[in-house]
Amino acid sequence: MGLSWLAYLLLGVSGLWMRSLRQNEQIRPDWLRPAHFLLGLTLAILVLVLLAIGIVGTLGEYGKLGHSVHLISGLAVVYLVFLSAWSAVQISTERLWARQLHVGINAVLLIGFIWVSATGWTVVQKYLP
Ligand code: HEM
Ligand code: HEM
Repeated sequence: MGLSWLAYLLLGVSGLWMRSLRQNEQIRPDWLRPAHFLLGLTLAILVLVLLAIGIVGTLGEYGKLGHSVHLISGLAVVYLVFLSAWSAVQISTERLWARQLHVGINAVLLIGFIWVSATGWTVVQKYLP
């Protein structure tokens, strides 16, 4: 999850950087967009791994899911990350709304990240002495 947070923060920084370059009509370094894109894919893989660990670990421990809202928050985050990636692919000169959408989804994703971390931390407490 630490890695996911790092990826999210780097995505935010590189995304906002692209935005400021675009708004000031400056040239954007060639590597910036692919780097942002690859970071996005990394984030997508990371949350899928966390989802798999969460589901497999919980099933192994209890044989069933749904002990807390952590399940819902986890699913929400995975869904939002993929929605974000989808909206990113839609961004083009004909589809300017997609950029707004991408940024909007990522703002909601921040709330999701906080939520999944908080609820995850709560379930961790159960295992601490
Ligand atoms: C989920 C994976 C992600 C992918 C595949 C992705 C990909 C992209 C792409 C292709 C663009 C368009 C760049 C252009 O204008 O040519 C973009 C823009 C942007 N992204 Fe992402 N992104 C992802 C996640 C995120 C996240 C998590 C954040 C924020 C924390 C973010 C923030 C931004 C911002 C601020 C822009 C600039 C919009 C603008 O130019 O006004 N992205 N992203
Ligand atoms: C994107 C990030 C994450 C996803 C997608 C995710 C997903 C899941 C899922 C689906 C479960 C099964 C829950 C259930 O059926 O009740 C689970 C369990 C669990 N997760 Fe996560 N999780 C994430 C982040 C975290 C974090 C940050 C922590 C710790 C700080 C954490 C700690 C746990 C623990 C301890 C369990 C066992 C639940 C239990 O015993 O009731 N997870 N996770």
